[in-house]
Amino acid sequence: MRKLRTIFNDWGNRTQRTYIHKQWVLSKWEVLDGIDWPVEKVKLLFQNIRDGLKPARFHSLIDIGCGGGWIQKGLKPYVKQTAGLDISLEMLRNAHLVSPRKTNLICGNVCELPLRDKSFDRILCYFVFINFGDPKDIIKAILEIIRILKNGGRALIGQIPDRNFSSQYDTAKKEYLEYCRKNFQVGKNIRDICLVPVHPLDRKFFTAFLEKFNIPYEIRNSFNPFYRAGEPETVEWRFDLILQKKK
Ligand SMILES: C[S@@+](CC[C@H](N)C(=O)[O-])C[C@H]1O[C@@H](n2cnc3c(N)ncnc32)[C@H](O)[C@@H]1O
Repeated sequence: MRKLRTIFNDWGNRTQRTYIHKQWVLSKWEVLDGIDWPVEKVKLLFQNIRDGLKPARFHSLIDIGCGGGWIQKGLKPYVKQTAGLDISLEMLRNAHLVSPRKTNLICGNVCELPLRDKSFDRILCYFVFINFGDPKDIIKAILEIIRILKNGGRALIGQIPDRNFSSQYDTAKKEYLEYCRKNFQVGKNIRDICLVPVHPLDRKFFTAFLEKFNIPYEIRNSFNPFYRAGEPETVEWRFDLILQKKK
């Protein structure tokens, strides 16, 4: 985890001032530097997150691994209050630039959350487990998420790379980068520069664990992070875990 913190601190620090008005690009590390996600894609992604989380106006929500804070900001109108948590202070600085006022930002590790039991109605953790290589960290993180979830609450852990579809992911990524190169003025590839580790996982690992701990869950294919008009909105090479805490 210390290594991840260093990577994201470097990233957040390096890009901070460059992206003041385009913070969400910071988090979009699949894309080439300087390319905005089209409005339609961002709208679909939020729709997909809301379908999974089912937020209501009286809910409290925390975005764990909030990075540049763009998703937390986008979900604010759908709930009563939001918070963002990240292991990287530099990323939180970016989140603060995106929502300078009345934003509750916390520095912490999802595996040891500095939060009380049953604190939130809704929890989002998006593009975060993608970097976790050690199954022990994943288990700790899920148990922590369940711990701080209120009874009857719902958590969405999104964009987990599926080990069984790695070659489909590689093909999709190659095509997406070619598309970007053709259609946009190319900057730099953020992922290659940052060397963020990506660890594919098996859906069965999660189902076995969740069943053992008797945690109700759904698994669905994730929103397509390489979405373009005409492309499928969801893909099987990524999956989302939706956890429900019993009432
Ligand atoms: C790829 S970014 C995703 C940011 C944001 N969720 C999004 O979708 O745009 C991953 C974020 O998770 C944070 N992170 C990584 N490990 C973490 C941990 N153990 N606890 C909390 N945050 C973590 C990183 O600092 C980084 O900001």
